Amino acid sequence: MPGAIYAEGLVKTFGDVKALDGVDLDVPEGTVLGLLGPNGAGKTTTVRCLTTLLRPDRGRAEVAGLDVLKHPNEVRRSIGLSGQFAAVDEYLTGRENLQMVGQLYQMKAKPAKARAAELLDQFDLADAADRPAKTYSGGMRRRLDLAAALVVSPPVMFMDEPTTGLDPRNRQLLWDVIKRLVSGGTTLLLTTQYLEEADHLAHDIAVVDHGRVIARGTSDQLKAQTGGERVEVVVHEREHIATAREVLAGFGKGDTTVEEHTRKLTVPVTGGAKLLAEVIRELDTRGIEIDDIGLRRPTLDDVFLSLTGHVAELRSNEENGKEAAA
Ligand SMILES: Nc1ncnc2c1ncn2[C@@H]1O[C@H](COP(=O)(O)OP(=O)(O)O)[C@@H](O)[C@H]1O
Ligand SMILES: [Mg+2]
Repeated sequence: MPGAIYAEGLVKTFGDVKALDGVDLDVPEGTVLGLLGPNGAGKTTTVRCLTTLLRPDRGRAEVAGLDVLKHPNEVRRSIGLSGQFAAVDEYLTGRENLQMVGQLYQMKAKPAKARAAELLDQFDLADAADRPAKTYSGGMRRRLDLAAALVVSPPVMFMDEPTTGLDPRNRQLLWDVIKRLVSGGTTLLLTTQYLEEADHLAHDIAVVDHGRVIARGTSDQLKAQTGGERVEVVVHEREHIATAREVLAGFGKGDTTVEEHTRKLTVPVTGGAKLLAEVIRELDTRGIEIDDIGLRRPTLDDVFLSLTGHVAELRSNEENGKEAAA
């Protein structure tokens, strides 16, 4: 039986751009799927197809057991989507916005009021609750928008990059809210560019690139698939990067990646602590001073790199801030 969210062979083309090139997904009820991919991978297009906002050229999808193309209205009643349905009214206060959403969903005035107060608290908006939304900062607005999507608890939720633009504190806040939501039985499809977020929240991760799911599994499975441990070295002098790279290549089981600005080199290895000792001796013999060296398990960053051949394009908080303000 298909899960709470199911997609088979979704294709969507915009002019020359194949945004989706045959996306398959299956999300069991009560679980979180992290749809992880760089900018332009097809995450939003997937979400829009699944939430009836966009018609795929080919393929089929079911949400909450309902065919998305045949029963769009019923599907819309069964889902919550952050950022789209929950249009925040600039001129209403945060509290009024949330109460209005409750009433749109046929809640009575009193429970709608109580639910609004509860969400304002959860999203740390209580102090700003009675100010018009147009006075909110980018991050506050984002939180209000998410709160609006949670006024009623739908069985299936979609969140498209919910924490892009949030500072670490607010990201943590939202993660807690999401965990509570899921522990209540909600099925969630969450898109993200943050590997850490997928790692933290998702039961299963689907890595998307160029409109296709290129890997699927739990965070641990994906990491295991990427193989072995990594030796990570930070050299003291930038001039030593090239030589250190040569040394690591001699021990490595794959390509060495170099982060110039942090003088950090990483290479996949097998051989554990014994090998680490050998690497240290060899670096020492070649006269390379090191600031730090260690063994670590692969991260989702490594997974992404080995799957796609490019590092995940994670954006800095500063850039995120700009986006949130825009
Ligand atoms: N309405 C649209 N018109 C034209 N191209 C689009 C449209 N929506 C998305 N695309 C293109 O489809 C590809 C996938 O976009 P999108 O699903 O938004 O990716 P993501 O959300 O992963 O960043 C991108 O190349 C994007 O430019
Ligand atoms: Mg997107």
